[in-house]
Amino acid sequence: MINEKEALYLLETAKKARLNAYAPYSHYHVGAALLAQNGKTYIGCNVENASFGATNCAERTALFSAIAGGVRDFQGIAVVGGTYGSLDETILPCGICCQALSEFCAQDFPIVLAKEESYRIVTLKELFPHAFSSQNLNK
Ligand code: THU
Repeated sequence: MINEKEALYLLETAKKARLNAYAPYSHYHVGAALLAQNGKTYIGCNVENASFGATNCAERTALFSAIAGGVRDFQGIAVVGGTYGSLDETILPCGICCQALSEFCAQDFPIVLAKEESYRIVTLKELFPHAFSSQNLNK
């Protein structure tokens, strides 16, 4: 879980990360900041591709960076973005990102969402109540 100070820190970090978004096709710039249990923060932005399906969302960029660094335990994530980086709408992680997060994060994993200066926290379970999991495979 995260406290208010951590939520605000993650939001500011995600806002900075969105400035690195590579989004020449959608012009939708997204940033994410993922707080690990060890206190480290991993940032992500969306990275688009001329072959659109090769695009990677900001949340998975952050998650995969952490995993590549040997870190698998997380406290929370913040996600912000909008057209040309506008912050006038709340954005929600897509289904693929929720599925990817569900591999490593518990159902009560907090996701910090923002609109302008206000924010709210939802859980992974609220956004994605029925993930496909390893339990489906272990039969
Ligand atoms: N995108 C993200 O990075 N995260 C989300 O949660 C939703 C969508 C990106 C993917 C693509 O580059 C652009 O936003 C438009 O879909």
